[in-house]
Amino acid sequence: MKRWIKWTAGSALLLAVIVAAAAASGLYLAEQKRNRYIDIKPRPVAYTTDAQTIERGRYLYASRGCTDCHGAQGTGREFVNDGKGTRLAGPNITAAGVVARYQPEDWNSVIRHGVKPNGRPLLVMPSEDYNRFTNDDLNALVSYVRQFTPQEGTQAVVELPRPAWVLYGLGAIPDAAARIDHQLAPSRPVPAGVTVANGQYVANMCIGCHGADLSGGKIPGGPPDWPAASDLRPGKDGSAMARYASSASFVTMLRTGKRPDGTPIQVMPFESLGQLSDVDAQALYLFLTAPGAHANLGGAGAGVGQAPAVKDVGVGAASVDAGSDAHLVRVEQPVLQPRPSNVPSVGSGLRMPG
Ligand code: HEC
Ligand code: HEC
Repeated sequence: MKRWIKWTAGSALLLAVIVAAAAASGLYLAEQKRNRYIDIKPRPVAYTTDAQTIERGRYLYASRGCTDCHGAQGTGREFVNDGKGTRLAGPNITAAGVVARYQPEDWNSVIRHGVKPNGRPLLVMPSEDYNRFTNDDLNALVSYVRQFTPQEGTQAVVELPRPAWVLYGLGAIPDAAARIDHQLAPSRPVPAGVTVANGQYVANMCIGCHGADLSGGKIPGGPPDWPAASDLRPGKDGSAMARYASSASFVTMLRTGKRPDGTPIQVMPFESLGQLSDVDAQALYLFLTAPGAHANLGGAGAGVGQAPAVKDVGVGAASVDAGSDAHLVRVEQPVLQPRPSNVPSVGSGLRMPG
C-alpha cells in the first residue's frame, strides 16, 4: 500500500515536471515562432481610384470579414474579449495607423500571405481565407482601404491564455503564414454568377474556421467555449448543409444568423456574411450542395479558378502587371530563422505571459 502511494506520488511529481517542462518549452517556442522571419517577396498591388473598382473593394471589405475585425471605417476594433484571458483587436488600418508606410507589395504580403512587412507572421487574422483572392480583387480591396479617412484608432491586441501560446509554440495551432502554400499562384478571374466555380471562390472565406477541406471541427486558437465549426463538405453525410433544403433557406440563414428552426448560430461572422450579395450567397449554396464537388480550397490541388503554374516575374515595373498570374518574385517556405539585425522586434500590443 505504502509503496503504491510512493509510486503514485513519484509519478505524479514526474508528470508535473514533464508538463511544466513542456509548457516552458512551448512558451519559448511560441516566442521563437512569432519572431521568425518569413522570406517572401510578393508582387506589388496596383492602386487605383476607379469608382467601379473601389465599389468592388467596398463590397469585399464588408462581406469578407474585414469589417468585423477592423471596423467599417478601418480604425480597428476589439472583436473578442471573453473575460477569461482571450482579448483580440484588429489594428487601425487607415493611413494614420500601422499601414502608414506600406509599399504596394506589403498589402499583398499581409492580406494574401499573413506576413507583416517586417517578415513576421500575422497572428489571428485569417489570411488563408484571402490567399485565393484574384489579383483584381486584391487590387480593389486595397484601393478601397487606402481611401479611408486617416484617423486615430486602436492598436492590435493579441492576448491569449497561456495554454493557447503553448499550443502555438508546439505547432498545434499554426498561424496563417504556416498554413498557406506561398507558392500557389493567385486564382484566375472567376466570372460573377450563380455557378459552382464562383461558389468555390467565395467559400475560401470559410476555411479559416471550417478548415481547408471544410470538414469543420474545433477552431484553432478559438476560446474553449466556442462550439466546433460544422462539417460543410459537399455531399457528405454529416454536412450541416442537409438542414438547408433550398438556396432561399440558406441565404436567409446568412442574413439572420439563425437556423431554419429559429435557433441562433454562434461564432459565425454574420455582420459580414449578411453582406454577401444574393448572387454570391446562392453560388455558395450551389457549391456547398454540389454532389461530388471538391472542396479542397486552401492547399495544393485547389480546383476551379486556380492558375496552373507560377510564372516567375521580374522585379520592378513588370511585376505590377495586374494581368500576370504570378505574384511571387521569390519565395522560401517559412522556416525558423534568426531575426536580421535591421528588423525590429514584434510591436507592442501582442502580449504573452511569462
Ligand atoms: C478575425 C479578425 C480579422 C479579420 C477577419 C481580418 N483581420 Fe486584419 N488583422 C487582424 C489582427 C488581429 C491583426 C493584427 C495581427 C498581428 O499584429 O499579429 C490584423 C492586422 C491587419 C493589418 C496590419 C498588419 C500589420 O501589422 O502591418 C492589415 C493591413 C489588415 N489586418 C487588413 C485586413 C483586411 C483588408 C482584411 C479583410 C480582407 C482583414 N484584415 C481581415 C484581424 C483580422
Ligand atoms: C469565425 C469562424 C467562422 C467562419 C468565418 C465561418 N463559420 Fe460557419 N460556423 C462556425 C461555427 C463555430 C459553427 C457552429 C455554430 C454552432 O454550432 O452554433 C458554424 C456553422 C455553420 C453552418 C451550420 C449552421 C447550422 O445550421 O447549424 C453553416 C451552414 C456554416 N457555418 C456555413 C459557413 C459558410 C458558408 C461560411 C463562409 C461563407 C462560414 N460558415 C464561415 C464558424 C465560422
